[in-house]
Amino acid sequence: MSHYQKPPELYEGLRLHQNENTGGCSPRVIEALARLRPDQIGFYPPYAAATDAVAAYLGVTPDAVTLVNGLDEGIMAVAVAYLRAAIGGPQLEAIVPEPAFEIFRFDTAVAGGKLVQVMPHADFSFPLDEVLAAITPDTRVVFVTNPNNPTGVDVPLDAIRTIAGRIPPGAIVFVDEAYAEFAGVSFIPHLDAFPNVIVGRTFSKAFGLAGLRIGCLVGSPATLDAVRRAVPVYSVNVAAAVAILAALEDLDHLRDYLRQVAESKALLYDACDRLELPYVKSRSNFVLVRAGDRTDALIAGALAKGIYLRDRSTEPGCAGSVRIATGIVEHTRRAIAVIEEVLCAAR
Ligand SMILES: Cc1ncc(COP(=O)(O)O)c(C=O)c1O
Repeated sequence: MSHYQKPPELYEGLRLHQNENTGGCSPRVIEALARLRPDQIGFYPPYAAATDAVAAYLGVTPDAVTLVNGLDEGIMAVAVAYLRAAIGGPQLEAIVPEPAFEIFRFDTAVAGGKLVQVMPHADFSFPLDEVLAAITPDTRVVFVTNPNNPTGVDVPLDAIRTIAGRIPPGAIVFVDEAYAEFAGVSFIPHLDAFPNVIVGRTFSKAFGLAGLRIGCLVGSPATLDAVRRAVPVYSVNVAAAVAILAALEDLDHLRDYLRQVAESKALLYDACDRLELPYVKSRSNFVLVRAGDRTDALIAGALAKGIYLRDRSTEPGCAGSVRIATGIVEHTRRAIAVIEEVLCAAR
């Protein structure tokens, strides 16, 4: 498998292709960063205050939380901890219901695991029966994203409970909740009853901290133990550790963004209806638009006008699909104006 290709470094226009918060972080984060002293930068960072604040935000005890340098690092740590085969042992398997965050595929390969893809239903409803049928004695991780990327469709919590009840001992369900704030649903309250589930969260999306790289893994301390060993010591830098404290003190900033996301999605749905573009109803801060044979024209035309959209056509079940972030309302209005112009010109 080839390695992960980062999207091109496009920063001049409107970035609607990586599900970021295009309004940025809370101003309180900038103030906190400005207060950093030279000695704080000179020392390895302390994590207790940040871990306590994240645990309080998520409603768990601090020993159930491990901070990571972006959830990407957490996913790699899960893959390394759970998918490395013992010498002479069988290749260990990761089940990935598709379409999925592509990093699951790449990290499974890096850890030497075997990728078991489960293909999607036409409406992207969660393929529970197919996932259960894919479980074998060598399954070690089932990667689930709720709500899913790139579809924005949710995974019923009951489906996660059912999978957790069927996987072999020593295996985990990894629930990637990168977009949980937008859906307002989390598996975290159920973790006590399901010690074989690990939840991943990020502060890149709803909190607008993608550039600082901070996320966390949440689970029972015993289950997290193996993963903690695979997270490099001090991988979260001091700026991120300080920033998260300030971000969590300004939940009004988060609430405002969530309100704008809801409004933006409604605006984009209306525009799609006008343009006769089918789309998938999303619980997240992006929408998968089924542009069909208009996909190339839409991506290229928007790019030429400085609006970056993500072509997801090569993902399973996503032929002719464009993923568009729906966050700051003013940005969504700009994007819709360009999309309408481009598609009308292409007619
Ligand atoms: C499902 C999912 N998980 C994890 C991540 C990565 O998050 P982070 O920025 O914290 O590494 C993303 C980012 O796009 C994502 O979509």
